[in-house]
Amino acid sequence: MELEKVLTHRVSTRKYNDRMPDDSAIQKILDAALLAPIVHFHKLHLSVVTNKDAMNLAEDAADEIFARPDAAIKMPRPYLYNAPVWIILSGVKYDESTNSQAKLMNNNLFWNVGSIIENMELQATELGLASCGINTTVVAMANRPDVKKAVGIPEGYDALASVIIGYPDSPLPERKVKPEFIPVSYVK
Ligand SMILES: Cc1cc2nc3c(=O)[nH]c(=O)nc-3n(C[C@H](O)[C@H](O)[C@H](O)COP(=O)(O)O)c2cc1C
Repeated sequence: MELEKVLTHRVSTRKYNDRMPDDSAIQKILDAALLAPIVHFHKLHLSVVTNKDAMNLAEDAADEIFARPDAAIKMPRPYLYNAPVWIILSGVKYDESTNSQAKLMNNNLFWNVGSIIENMELQATELGLASCGINTTVVAMANRPDVKKAVGIPEGYDALASVIIGYPDSPLPERKVKPEFIPVSYVK
């Protein structure tokens, strides 16, 4: 697929069929994460989760935040949309209460996180797979060591971002560029 086609067909997808992407597809997506334009001094880890019990546990944790009657932001389950693969990017954040440069470092870290997730989504699209960035189950495990352990996050790491991947229920639509999304200015 040409890059332009990958860009226009990468779309957050919330309906998947049951077909499991094969190991070589998952490996290519992980390779894309490693090829992302990132600096290499942050501590990062990728967890590939296909275990339904682990996914359910993470969704139970998300229910405690997003399904509460008094929830400010309500989201319906399933938060992972029954996608067969869930990849979580975790890392070690910098403690802003003790380190004067920690905010700069965290901003740097989060830029890296975005690049890694984006590369994985684009590679998935190239492979005919669908994807969606998922934050609900990421924030839900912040204070849940049991969930972090169940999904394979190393000790001392926090979940930073995640993406679900699988075969779409229907073909990915072509998206149009919408200039109104982000204003542009030029200094010539
Ligand atoms: C940081 C981030 C977190 C997101 N979290 C969720 C989520 O928890 N659940 C969800 O359904 N979509 C989530 N999305 C997907 C966005 O809703 C989606 O990217 C946005 O609506 C734009 O649509 P597009 O990706 O198809 O261009 C997230 C996207 C980003 C970038």
